[in-house]
Amino acid sequence: MRAEHIGVLLTTNEDDRGSITALTASCKPGWSLPGRFYADPAIYRADLEQVWRKGWLFAGHTCEIPRPGDFFTLSVDTDSVIVIRDEDGAIHGLHNVCRHHGSLICTEAAGRAKRLVCPYHQWSYGLGGELISCRGMHEDLDKAQFSLKQLSLQEVEGLIYISLAKEPLPFEPARELISPLARPQGFTQARVAKAVDYLGVEGSDQTIDSLAVSAGAEDDADRERILVNRSTPSCFLPDIAANCLACLL
Ligand code: FES
Repeated sequence: MRAEHIGVLLTTNEDDRGSITALTASCKPGWSLPGRFYADPAIYRADLEQVWRKGWLFAGHTCEIPRPGDFFTLSVDTDSVIVIRDEDGAIHGLHNVCRHHGSLICTEAAGRAKRLVCPYHQWSYGLGGELISCRGMHEDLDKAQFSLKQLSLQEVEGLIYISLAKEPLPFEPARELISPLARPQGFTQARVAKAVDYLGVEGSDQTIDSLAVSAGAEDDADRERILVNRSTPSCFLPDIAANCLACLL
């Protein structure tokens, strides 16, 4: 992300506008950002609010969840998100929060499920987030009112983007930019053969293994290979450079 982009994005935050504007003005083109950009809580919050909660975020590859019921989870700030493929092949972005008492539903990084079952009181949801059973509730409960909350989700050339915003920015300008760049990569035909954790995050081996197994990666050495870059919440900031293009639109 270039400094002028940060200025555009962060000065829209009322609380810290003056401070951040001054800091942005001190940035030198071609130089790394001042240290405060990496350590100031106000900038971190502004970054979350203006970029991560308003823009479109790269979530993963469609080839990570090739079969119905395949899912992976990710966290954005305090939000946990499930990205899952339903029986008809459609991909959904769901808030990973039970509509009963708010328990986390999926605790695994990735896997496959016939239903999403809350571990607390076993409310169960379909692969599209619809409430199927709610043990112990009144018979006349209108289940349609208690589906898992959906996020906005878009696919482009095998890449999955999500938005936490209630009214997301238009995605089409981003699609027009991304499509010609991503199409030659062949992500729509790709299958996961190997997943590499660049960051060496503790405990990530299990995550990576489960992703690879989920995608059936263990038995076909000739398949097309891609690398899956799976970030953890504390490592989202370096990914902004990859995502900011869509966020700025
Ligand atoms: S919190 Fe999920 S079923 Fe009660």
